[in-house]
Amino acid sequence: AKITFITSDNETITLEGTSGSVMELAVNNNVKGIDGDCGGVCSCATCHVHVAPEDFAKTGGPEELENDMLEFDDLTNEYSRLSCQLQISEALDGIVLKVAK
Ligand code: FES
Repeated sequence: AKITFITSDNETITLEGTSGSVMELAVNNNVKGIDGDCGGVCSCATCHVHVAPEDFAKTGGPEELENDMLEFDDLTNEYSRLSCQLQISEALDGIVLKVAK
């Protein structure tokens, strides 16, 4: 699936991934602002992204544990997801994610 990241510098980076999480794809390709400090276990929020509103149906909203984590981040909005909780599949093809920080 092709996944596009927009960083806080307004840099647009499109990456192709087949498996793993969106956070891993971003970290492996040095996308600025996605650090994945906790290794993908939903406890750091350094992988926070805002899904483009028109793509939110593809990702869906956060699960309860993820939601609890997002509540601690003041950058959270209604399109927030932790990218370590997004598993790459063809269902996500073409989505645009704005890096939250
Ligand atoms: Fe820590 Fe996603 S990598 S919450």
